[in-house]
Amino acid sequence: MFEKLELISADAILGLMAAFRADPDPRKVDLGVGVFRDDRGETPVLASVRTAEQALVAEQTTKTYVGPSGNPGFNQQMEQLVFGAGHPAVKAGRVRTVQAPGGCGALRLGAELIRAAAPDSVVHVSTPTWANHVPLLGNSGLKLERYPYFDAQTGGVQFGAMMAALEKLPPRAVVLLHASCHNPTGADLSQDEWRAVLELVKRRSLLPFIDMAYQGLGEGADADAFAIRLFSAELPELVCAVSCSKNFGLYRERTGSLHVINEGAKAADATLSQLVRLARGMWSMPPDHGAEIVRRILSEAALRESWARELEAMRTRITGLRHELVRQLRAQCPQRDFSFIARQRGMFSFFGITTEQVRRMRAEHHIYMTDDSRINIAGLRAENLEYVARATAQVLAA
Ligand code: LMR
Repeated sequence: MFEKLELISADAILGLMAAFRADPDPRKVDLGVGVFRDDRGETPVLASVRTAEQALVAEQTTKTYVGPSGNPGFNQQMEQLVFGAGHPAVKAGRVRTVQAPGGCGALRLGAELIRAAAPDSVVHVSTPTWANHVPLLGNSGLKLERYPYFDAQTGGVQFGAMMAALEKLPPRAVVLLHASCHNPTGADLSQDEWRAVLELVKRRSLLPFIDMAYQGLGEGADADAFAIRLFSAELPELVCAVSCSKNFGLYRERTGSLHVINEGAKAADATLSQLVRLARGMWSMPPDHGAEIVRRILSEAALRESWARELEAMRTRITGLRHELVRQLRAQCPQRDFSFIARQRGMFSFFGITTEQVRRMRAEHHIYMTDDSRINIAGLRAENLEYVARATAQVLAA
């Protein structure tokens, strides 16, 4: 049977990870996959995670099954982290949360729920969006379409064009939005723009599906959840997929949550029953290790404080690197304006060079980024910023 299968190329981001690892050049710079790195280029286990994990290993008495909706304490803590303390939708019993294997699992589970409720739904994603959104959502059977988003001229959002496109959608169309730290562009909506999107979504009866993979890495844990908190207070229904990969550094532990806001508590119970059945049919039960670490961190005051400080340090490093990169680029390529990089948020920016220039950065300078010129800002280091800026100047001049 399998002899009929064709060899296909690796996913662009994962392929880049492998190519970087295989490159023996000591000057190599990894601006590819979206993982946080410190100034030594490492992705360390957070101290708060290490402490919680040690306690977990010492105290855990069983490895028996947890259940398809995951770790209840984790789900409760994630609701508070995502919605904030005392959010009216949570208080009204309108929110149902299930743990998922990473933000990816949450996205897929959300798509499956939408498909179960309305099989002909179309999900509208931004142009561009994270490449893996397409198979994660589309393989559920839902159709995907695009709306304009990134403005390459300004490095910001083409807000007018985005709103004009959303205005034309039929009622019940699903709109995938990035809560903060837009992947791959780093261009986020302002709070006023979110309020305008909310009014449109209400008027057109659309269903927002918000992906929050970087809570705390943009403006802060509360500010990054602004849209989710606003929308869930004002809308009858909302779907949110949340990842703990980046803000807890739990990448390989596959830790995430799906939160569905419903019109009332009765509808919420039906939603939860469907989510549990869907999860059971896909992965049966999510892995507990990362979720129990997060639960411990969020529920123990000292650990939570230590994690909040580590999160702030990650955010501050990224913001500092954005400003330093702009400064170096201004010195090396004064003819080109890269100031948009300092205005964007989160791990990523679109560098704005051509695919051919991206390939030359890789071949001639061992600097790795995806072909669309997305760079992971956290992959930069004090010692290679100037090297990256010089290489950019050479590639742009050629
Ligand atoms: C990324 O966008 O690089 C990360 O979210 C990692 C991934 O799985 O693609």
